[in-house]
This record gives sequence, C-alpha cells and structure tokens, in this order.
Amino acid sequence: MRNTLDKKTLSVLQQKISEGLMPQWVVTDPEIHQVEIEKIFGHTWQFLAHESELKEAGSYVTRWIVNDPVLLVRTNSGELKAFLNSCTHRGVHLCTADFGKKKTFTCPYHGWSFNLEGELIGIVAGDKVYGEEMDKSEWGLRPIPRLESYRGMIFANLDKNAMSLEDYLGDMKFYFDILLGRSDGGMEVRGVPQRWVANANWKALQENFSADPYHVQTNHRSTVEMGISPSDPLYASYGHQVILGHGHGINVITGANGRSKFPFQATPESMWPMFERNLSPEQYDLLSRTTVFVGGVFPNLSFVSPVHGTEGHLHNYLNFRVWRPLGPDKVEIWCWFMIDKAAPEDYKEAAYRGYIGSFGSSGTLEMDDTETWARIVQASKGIMSRDKELNYNNVSNYLMGFGRVEPDENFPGRGIAYPTTYLDAISRSLHEYWFELISKDLLDAGEEAK
Ligand code: FES
Ligand SMILES: [Fe+2]
Repeated sequence: MRNTLDKKTLSVLQQKISEGLMPQWVVTDPEIHQVEIEKIFGHTWQFLAHESELKEAGSYVTRWIVNDPVLLVRTNSGELKAFLNSCTHRGVHLCTADFGKKKTFTCPYHGWSFNLEGELIGIVAGDKVYGEEMDKSEWGLRPIPRLESYRGMIFANLDKNAMSLEDYLGDMKFYFDILLGRSDGGMEVRGVPQRWVANANWKALQENFSADPYHVQTNHRSTVEMGISPSDPLYASYGHQVILGHGHGINVITGANGRSKFPFQATPESMWPMFERNLSPEQYDLLSRTTVFVGGVFPNLSFVSPVHGTEGHLHNYLNFRVWRPLGPDKVEIWCWFMIDKAAPEDYKEAAYRGYIGSFGSSGTLEMDDTETWARIVQASKGIMSRDKELNYNNVSNYLMGFGRVEPDENFPGRGIAYPTTYLDAISRSLHEYWFELISKDLLDAGEEAK
C-alpha cells in the first residue's frame, strides 16, 4: 500500500483544509481509512444505544464500534455494562442476536457461560479438563474501557484516558436537552434500530446531516414536486448553523421570519406546558420556533428532528443514526426512531409511519441521499480525482465564502451561530477536528519523515 500519510502530505492536507478545501482522494483512500479507525474511532465517544432499549435486568443489545463487537447489558442491580462480545477462551463472537433478555451468555464453541456481570460462571467438564486450580475470576469478559451516558444516550469509548462524555459533548448538551429532555420520562426508542448497508464513505454522511441543508431543495426535489416541501429554494436555509466544538454541529431551521409555521414542531398542544417545565426559557423559545433540528456528534452519530406529514397530518419524531464504516467505500447505517415517552399513543404511531415514509430505510428522503452518497465514492477512486478537491469555500456564492457571514450574537442557544444554514462552517470545523485527530503524533514525528 502507498504510504499516504507522510509529513509532507499531512502538511498539504492541513493547508488545503485551512483554505476550505478537501482533497478528493481522502474520501476513499484505504490508508486514511485505517488511520481513521485507529485514531478517530479508537478514541472518540461512540453511541451504542438508548436506555429505553434496555428496560429490565437481563436486557441486552449487541452493537459494534467499527470492528469491535460490543455486548451491552443491564445487570441485576440495574447497572449498564458493556463488554467485548468475544469469548475469553478462543475469541468466538459470543452473542449474535441483535437484542433480547438473558441471565447468561453461553459460547457456541465449547460452551463456556458468562453472567450479566461478564463473569465466567460455567465451564463444560471444567473440573476434569482444567482442574480445581483454574481461577474463573481471571476469565471474565473484557469490559469496554469507558461507558457513560447523557440524557439516556449510552456511549462507549475504547480509550480509557478519553475526556468525559459530558466534556466531549460540550455545547451539544444544550441541544440534547431540548431533543431528549423536553418531555417527562425523556424519549423512547420505538421498534429496534433499522440497519442497512450503503456504498458510501462515512464522512460524507456525517457532513450531510450535520452540515448540509443546502442539498435539501435539490436532492429532495421530489418532496417539493409532491407539495410536501416548500418550493422556495431558500426554505431550508432559514435559521442558524451552529458550530459546537469537537466537530459537532447543529442546524436550527425555522421559517423566513425566524419562526416555524409549526410551533413546537407540530407536537400536540397538550404537551407544550410540559416542554416549558422541562426546558430553560432559551431552550423553550428555540423549540417553539424551530421546524427542523438536524446535526451531528463527531465522528459518526447524526440526528434529525423534522416535521413530516402523512395523510394530511403533521408529526415530529427524533431519528438518530450511526454510520459504521465497513471500509472506505462502505457503511452500515444504524437508524433509531425515538419519540417523547409522554406523547399520546396515537401520535406516536402516526409519527412512526411518518418516519418510515421519510427517513426509514425505504423512505423517500433516505433513498435520495443514499444515491448521492454512492455517487461520491464512485467518482473518487479514479486517477483524475487524485489531484482534485472538494470545495467548502465557494467564493462565487456569497454565503459560503470565508468571513462573509458573521455569527449572530443574539442567538439564544449555545455555540457559534451563523444566521443561515446554507453555509460550510460546520463542514470546515468537522474537517479541522478530523485532521487534528488523524495527524496526532504524525505531524510532529521526526524530521526524517519529511
Ligand atoms: S471459544 Fe468460547 S468456549 Fe471456546
Ligand atoms: Fe438529505
């Protein structure tokens, strides 16, 4: 394999990124992909599950942190624990069911059993094979180094020295409080996460959600033609694009006058006093006038909280998704539907139907995006894309050039908020953090690397 990441290449990359450019070879380069797995996914907080997926003692779900299989369980004491989902005997992938409820996990190979605490409790013919001396306590499942949660969102980190989840989320917590903490009892996952594979690079998907309302009018043109979305080409631009640090960002989309036509995202009016009770005045104000919240937590967790209509009714829901890289040009998409636990049951059901038709695996908006993401990798593997750049500094468009739009000091939310969402501010901050992580220890490597 070509050695892509020498010091010279990194310096060029750094220079390009500072100019709002991203070399296109970066999209599908195999070496970049390996470095990302080590330096980004090995050290950042990875979303595993929402606590409503693990209601009772013995509930479990199986997940992945890129290539590390994870078993997440609720123990008998109600605590959440996460283990490497691999038998301590010969490494077999221990539990392959997506979710369930169990007291023990038994390995299919030689039958070793582990309890909810990850302890080895049963060995087939143990005394005869291993003798009395075997100390079972040395053979427990390997714990995932860090497990922390915020507002019911459970994250893991493979780096035991990582900063805390709360520090990592930083200003994103203000928006998570709105999305996940506005209702009594928080949110709940309905069904199980849908999963499918797309021919795409994870970075393009993260950018699409956290940084790119500009694509909505064109790529989702069919929704405009069907009369579901407005025909004003600027309709998705009204509101703020907010940079939140650590590569996180959110777009707070309103209407042209700064208010949504659908107060509180078209939720039932009966729920509004509850929102007021659970939110700060600033958060309540933002929720009251926002149509869509769409954003991302670096590196590969995205979310959208839209307003959609089915059969003449408008509904809101919360969709979280993880982009799990399977290679430089392949991604497994994990997609959760969440809804306010306190919402009326018929509203939840109708909102779920709205989700299935829009951002579910067969939804119209989903399919529009999947096609485009695949086209990015298709066009990024050739010889001519090697010295071509993706542009995040389109000077012919006055909104997207550097320094043309100043942050809005009066925005009531946290972060650096620009007064339009047709902007590349989040993309650029995402690229800067991406570069900071992948170049760690490489850029400072000795002079001989030049
Ligand atoms: S590999 Fe699991 S019991 Fe042998
Ligand atoms: Fe889209």
